[in-house]
Amino acid sequence: MSCRGLFLTFEGPEGSGKTTQSALLARRLEDAGHRILAIREPGGTAVGEALRDVLLNHPGQPLDVRAETLIFAAARAQLVTEVLKPALDQGRIVLCDRFADSTLAYQGFGHRQDLSLLRPMIEYATGGLEPSLRIFLDIPPADGLARCRTEEHKDARNRLAHAGTREWNRMDALDLSFHQRVYEGYLELAGQDPERWLTVDAKEGPAAVHARIWDGVSVLLPNAAEAVV
Ligand code: TYD
Repeated sequence: MSCRGLFLTFEGPEGSGKTTQSALLARRLEDAGHRILAIREPGGTAVGEALRDVLLNHPGQPLDVRAETLIFAAARAQLVTEVLKPALDQGRIVLCDRFADSTLAYQGFGHRQDLSLLRPMIEYATGGLEPSLRIFLDIPPADGLARCRTEEHKDARNRLAHAGTREWNRMDALDLSFHQRVYEGYLELAGQDPERWLTVDAKEGPAAVHARIWDGVSVLLPNAAEAVV
């Protein structure tokens, strides 16, 4: 699937600082005159937000892992058609907080779903749209989860939360070994394809992490003057 814009995704375990870094990069790009769109997964459309709520706060029995995987994929398909593809066709820079690699990391490595089944399902859902660059915020799960549990972080998440969505959710409650598999999955995905992944040590402070991200992203940028229409 070809498009004119630039599609950047943020990936990483819980507490890796994706939301903070996405906001810092968005501001920097806007200040440089680029037209950007910042979205998050699952969500970013009305259908996607409704599906997000089902995933994070559903009632009754635990969600079957295949049902969970397909709901993530359904939200992503809607996002691609309704928001992502049109924005990229307009030449925008799209920043997405999580995308298909989260499904490989969480459902694939974390929940041990077969990657060879997930990959074609993802391709179907996205129509083959792939990020120009995945920004992997690398933090071991114990450190990330400890960061999540500080009151300050919870407050920040709640401030950023969309109305009506409870952000401190069951995904965070899964055990450390699950998060360790997710983390190792990210390391494997990023390690296999270093051209398509920018790995950044996320244990440093926000300004240092942002500087590393900027170094990796700025070389990909279209001329800002051309980007502003
Ligand atoms: P969210 O509150 O957005 O967490 P975070 O701030 O860490 O992004 O909740 C999203 C959760 O959904 C998070 O635990 C990762 C998980 N997830 C998957 O398991 N698979 C996916 O395909 C996506 C997009 C997210």
